[in-house]
Amino acid sequence: MEKIVKILQKNYQGYRKQTQRVRGGLVRSQFGETSEAIFMNSGYVFESAEEAQARFAGEIDGYLYSRYGNPTVSTFEERMSLSENAEACFATSSGMAAVFNSLMCCLNSGDEVVSSWSLFGSCYHIFDQILPRFGIKTHLIDGTDLEEWHEHINEKTKCIFIETPSNPTMEIIDISAVSKIAHQNNALVIVDNIFASPILQKPIELGADVVVYSGTKHIDGQGRSIGGAILSDNKYYEEFLKPFLRHTGPTISPFNAWILLKGIETLEYRMHQHCDNAIKVAKYLLDHPKIDNTIYPGLSNHPQFNLATKQMTKGGSVVTFTIKNDNAFNFINGLKLFDISNNLGDTKSLVTHPASTTHRVIGESGRKKLKISNNMVRLSLGLEDVEDLIEDIDHSLKLVQ
Ligand SMILES: Cc1ncc(COP(=O)(O)O)c(C=O)c1O
Repeated sequence: MEKIVKILQKNYQGYRKQTQRVRGGLVRSQFGETSEAIFMNSGYVFESAEEAQARFAGEIDGYLYSRYGNPTVSTFEERMSLSENAEACFATSSGMAAVFNSLMCCLNSGDEVVSSWSLFGSCYHIFDQILPRFGIKTHLIDGTDLEEWHEHINEKTKCIFIETPSNPTMEIIDISAVSKIAHQNNALVIVDNIFASPILQKPIELGADVVVYSGTKHIDGQGRSIGGAILSDNKYYEEFLKPFLRHTGPTISPFNAWILLKGIETLEYRMHQHCDNAIKVAKYLLDHPKIDNTIYPGLSNHPQFNLATKQMTKGGSVVTFTIKNDNAFNFINGLKLFDISNNLGDTKSLVTHPASTTHRVIGESGRKKLKISNNMVRLSLGLEDVEDLIEDIDHSLKLVQ
């Protein structure tokens, strides 16, 4: 966040969260527009060569270049920071840019990283394939077992990575307990909070140091843009994040940042409706004779229901299940209202076959470890009338064996 924005904008620090989500970071131009303006510019002009020199040297305040900072992006970052009670935020071009750069900015060759193996396919690929290429040792463990965290975190561990609930099997990791183990070993705790969103789960309050988001999911929530964010304290931001991101350039476009900052305004209301629809669908699936293993953190049959209830306020927008005796493709193709799409957290309900899409890259052995079978289906419950959604599922289940 550039200092100049802090001077121009109103201070929304003392307000409640939903007020901050509607107004936080708002800086009006000389035209007094109601909605946030979009500053769709790559560079900034300087009055003189001396001013340019002084701004680049940090002697006077002001934006330098939109890879470093931009007023629209700053508004998004400020709104995210307020929503999460974080000291700092850096917006990124995608959720994966947030995940990857939150790790790479602080890791050196010889460091070790620990994460649960129950991860989104691209996150798994980073730990399994990319980090080892740079001499970083990764330990992928059963993240639900605290003993395993104890066993694998040591003085070489630079950071640990937690995805909870995990995609798509919805494993829950105890953020507080694992953060304590990590901090005893001076390791940083990074949490991927994409499934829960800042509305349902507050990782920083639970002990995490860094939180990453795919804004593509619930924050936009309307299928319009790719984007992400990394939230942290000032120390991590200044020491690792800012220098790394400014020079490597995974910057978000101001237009996408504008879409996401408008999304935050309605996030809380949308999130509650996503959850209300999801639990009704989960309960319907739980009792269906053609369905095995309905997984939803808000259902009392979830193996970590108590932990989920402790660290999340509701179960989220995603329900995963397996079809008992049939090919999942028959069920997916029979749906009329759900769209077949690998995104989640959208107003439109979406259906995905994780084994052949989001988790294809990790191969059959990886999927076996993550308990992702070929019969598994993931639903992202949108904001349609839930009775129409249940009727659609019911109709399609009649077509499968
Ligand atoms: C848990 C998780 N992390 C990260 C990402 C990546 O987000 P993006 O698609 O915005 O890069 C996803 C996307 O599905 C995800 O589910």
